[in-house]
Amino acid sequence: MSEVKFYYGDNVPLEMHKVRIVQKLNLVPIERRLEAINEAGNNTFLLKNSDVFMDMLTDSGVNAMSDKQLAAMMQADDSYAGSETFTKLENKIQEIFGTKYFLPAHQGRACENILSQVLVKPGTIVPMNYHFTTTKAHIVLNGGIVEEIFIDEALRIKSDNSFKGNLDIEKLKELIKTHGAEKIAFVRLEAGTNLIGGQPFSLENMEEVRKVCDEFGLLIVLDASLLADNLYFIKQREERCKNMSIREITRAMADLSDVIYFSARKLGCARGGGICTNNEEVYMKIRELIPLYEGFLTYGGMSVREMEAITVGLDETMDEYMINQGPQFIAYMVDELQKKGVPVVTPAGGLGCHINAMEFLSHLPQTLYPAGALASALYLVSGIRGMERGTLSEQRDENGNEPLAHMELLRLALPRRVFTLSQVKYAVDRIAWLYENRELIGGLKFVEEPKILRFFFGKLSTVSDWQTKLVAKFRQDFGDSL
Ligand SMILES: Cc1ncc(COP(=O)(O)O)c(C=O)c1O
Repeated sequence: MSEVKFYYGDNVPLEMHKVRIVQKLNLVPIERRLEAINEAGNNTFLLKNSDVFMDMLTDSGVNAMSDKQLAAMMQADDSYAGSETFTKLENKIQEIFGTKYFLPAHQGRACENILSQVLVKPGTIVPMNYHFTTTKAHIVLNGGIVEEIFIDEALRIKSDNSFKGNLDIEKLKELIKTHGAEKIAFVRLEAGTNLIGGQPFSLENMEEVRKVCDEFGLLIVLDASLLADNLYFIKQREERCKNMSIREITRAMADLSDVIYFSARKLGCARGGGICTNNEEVYMKIRELIPLYEGFLTYGGMSVREMEAITVGLDETMDEYMINQGPQFIAYMVDELQKKGVPVVTPAGGLGCHINAMEFLSHLPQTLYPAGALASALYLVSGIRGMERGTLSEQRDENGNEPLAHMELLRLALPRRVFTLSQVKYAVDRIAWLYENRELIGGLKFVEEPKILRFFFGKLSTVSDWQTKLVAKFRQDFGDSL
């Protein structure tokens, strides 16, 4: 993606890559989509890909790889122990993050499992800018308490704050004063906060967090899964970082962290993950658990091909023109939807375009899961699979009470370099139509509700026959169009 200007008409994001392998897509008729979404219990996780047109569920493991990544995968050194491929990856991580130790794991949540087992003791608190579903689940499983200390602006849907992912420094100090530093397991900073619209934190904020942590002897754990977007936003939006390279910004963030972990399904456009640190004590504790849960220390559950792809992917992440495609496509989609009056999270963040279901479906109470209902309705009218990020993604407390989410978002992920601009325009068209017909959309209720991470397998039904009415309106307006 470049800063190329167009002579006629509007500027649109221009891809600085070409597509050389394609995958045929299916757009099945709306009548089949109605069956499919009900077979899936109105849970987009349970849809089959053969029924999906644009898969905007997630960016996890579905970003397009580069030719160099694919080429590297062909020359992997397969071995249980001491693989050359692992050494290459370890060296690349050392070069980029400046960390001495790298512990491989099969994906991000595996790192969270191990880090929580090592660092979280029952009753300890983990302050963070915002939680992620699997992170919170692992911390809670180990008896820890998650405290989100985001800035007030973080939950404001419409905002011009460039760094809504910042951690509130005063709240952090207050929390430490109230509970005592010995009660804090570590401070977690999530780059590109997933659940609140892919919003970044600034380098300046991270420096302030570091100062507080130094004062009280606390560790900073950086979740770098969505680091690429956060790096791009720091370079674009933080005045003093404008002349820094992506590599320099990365190194500055790494130097401020005690532990970095990542999902390579996101960072590096590959699959896998790992934990990086210079802290020998933490390393020694984690090292014991890697062979138990993941695999030997030189593969950690990853195939050597994946590790080769991560090595190249991390290097490519240091190239601004490789990481700006996602945020620029998202900004385009957000702008177009705003022009049509659709309520979206602003400023445009990373990861995807986030629709505010609370406003889109203001006639539905949160107990009828507006973000889930919107995900179901959008699939129905477009074949687009998004992800509910609202109350359904929350977990009941120990007394069975259901906490209502801070936000009800429908996340439409833009896996990096996967969709074309005409596909994005199609998505905008169908969302805008759905917005005009929003009064037709009704709520959902659980018919099967799992105890842990219920959004993955839970099944829901509609509270009325709203889907049939929506299908009829679609046929009326679109004729025999798919
Ligand atoms: C911020 C963040 N942390 C952790 C994870 C977990 O990573 P994985 O899906 O590889 O287990 C994710 C995945 O979406 C994420 O976005």
